[in-house]
Amino acid sequence: MAEYQKFEHDVLIVGAGGAGLRAAIEARDAGVSVGLVCKSLLGKAHTVMAEGGMAAALGNVDDRDNWRVHFADTMRGGQYLNNCRMAELHAKEAPDRARELEAWGALFDRTADGRILQRNFGGHKYPRLAHVGDRTGLEMIRTLQDYTIHLGVDVHMETTVIELLKDGERVVGAVAFDRESGDFKVFHAKTVVIATGGIGKAFRVTSNSWECTGDGHALAYRAGAALIDMEFVQFHPTGMVWPLSVAGILVTEGVRGEGGILRNSEGRRFMFDDIPDLYKHQTADTEEEGWRYVTGDKNARRPPELLTRDHVARCIVREVKEGRGSPHGGVFLDIAWIKEKIPKAAEHIKKKLPSMYHQFKQLADLDITEQPMEVGPTTHYVMGGVKVDADTQMTDVPGLFAAGECAAGLHGANRLGGNSLSDLVVFGKRAGEYAAAYAKDHDAGTLHEDRISEVLREALAPFERHSKANPFEIQQELRTMMQENVGIVRKEAEMTEAIERIHVLRRQAANVGVTGGRAYNPGWHTAIDLHNMLTFTESIALSALERKESRGAHSRIDYPDKDSHLGKVNMTIRQGPGGKAQLSRAPIREVPAELQRIIEEMQ
Ligand code: FUM
Repeated sequence: MAEYQKFEHDVLIVGAGGAGLRAAIEARDAGVSVGLVCKSLLGKAHTVMAEGGMAAALGNVDDRDNWRVHFADTMRGGQYLNNCRMAELHAKEAPDRARELEAWGALFDRTADGRILQRNFGGHKYPRLAHVGDRTGLEMIRTLQDYTIHLGVDVHMETTVIELLKDGERVVGAVAFDRESGDFKVFHAKTVVIATGGIGKAFRVTSNSWECTGDGHALAYRAGAALIDMEFVQFHPTGMVWPLSVAGILVTEGVRGEGGILRNSEGRRFMFDDIPDLYKHQTADTEEEGWRYVTGDKNARRPPELLTRDHVARCIVREVKEGRGSPHGGVFLDIAWIKEKIPKAAEHIKKKLPSMYHQFKQLADLDITEQPMEVGPTTHYVMGGVKVDADTQMTDVPGLFAAGECAAGLHGANRLGGNSLSDLVVFGKRAGEYAAAYAKDHDAGTLHEDRISEVLREALAPFERHSKANPFEIQQELRTMMQENVGIVRKEAEMTEAIERIHVLRRQAANVGVTGGRAYNPGWHTAIDLHNMLTFTESIALSALERKESRGAHSRIDYPDKDSHLGKVNMTIRQGPGGKAQLSRAPIREVPAELQRIIEEMQ
């Protein structure tokens, strides 16, 4: 058997973005030993791609805001498929989590009277996003990371977890490898929290970085957990489309929050053309009213650029398809136009959106204070993930918790911008708290050497094969195919073809060979990632095929309307006998009367 190094922790946390770090802090504070594993260097997480802010009903800019409005906005944005208990906890607890970050050193932008400043974002009724310019996720990671280190959490950087280990039904550890040396590590833990983020790397155009290969989704699924809502993949409306080498990089919604508008090649603000019924009463009728809203007029309604992401992305796709796109296949996002409205606009833009200014200057040689940007949808986030208990974040596998993007429920069919940063800290904290409590109540369980050797043997198998199947080529083919067949607008024939293709690619992936040694071997890393990617992409395609309606981020040309029956079920996927994916429909959590009343009042 290959050698490995063994580590013991009460709580093992896999993933060091906002959710993993917040879980680590809470568990460590509860007095248990914590190991934190991250695939990359500490501090490099997709959390930093939530640039525009963290949603929390602090009511600092508009005192009409409170948790009830935030709850109702989140449910409406999610098209009522959300787990209402998670939406309730999230809306109630986000303000405390924001204030706590401030107390731990996060330098939020301030109102004139010194409170945390909040900005407008799509689908949020009032200015609600606590922010640090357009670098909010980065500031959050910096703050949480400093605190985590300070508390004495053991960090295992550049470490990829390849399988969870079980003792009977219960999860008791994980097998991983060190990316630099290729050496194996075995973690023995009383409980494991998965906080690995998203799956964006399965699509060709994405804001996600190389780490986002759905590892946690696949690890939990193989350990017996259920995946729900996997059909709901969020395509953020505004990613860069040019230059091609940087296509997909995020252009924060904060640009629209600060007054940026979308125009087509005819110069028309096309977002006024199609306002969904659910949002008619909240959306401005005229450009003038939209601008008044941006400048804080409490009697004005939101500009249509601040409709929810699913809708804005589809409108952009429509403009491009119908020949009204920009030269490089997007549309124009213009913040420079505010020069007509306010003095010193260029300084204002640079102050509010410093990263966007530098991003476009350096990558596209474009000055956003003078010229419009070209933007188009980019794969950004997955609403679907591991099914968890709303209060504790425990999955249906004992000892296994999940939090953050890899967990599901809060966002339903579509996430509101800014609700991810708050999700990470609200449910990261809860996961850490309950995982620590679980660890205190249980012994360590037993690691089974035969299972460890089996996992190590499988991990090393690509070195033994002399096949021509190349992991990079398979990954590229998968990404292109997912983009084309299971992308923003879907239909049955293409998704059926996608599922067949995934099966073929899976057979090819089972045969890939890699050359060279184990020390920093990207071919080997990709072969291991592929195993996960081919697992969750199948879940996405199967769930999307089964949801014969259009709702939130899931849009089908063959079923353009909502189906009221499907609006009450979560598509649920589990690993069945022989490793086969089994799909079922599970009823969504019933909304209790007092929450239903809030939803109705807010309408
Ligand atoms: O546009 C953005 O700044 C992204 C925020 C988010 O995904 O929550």
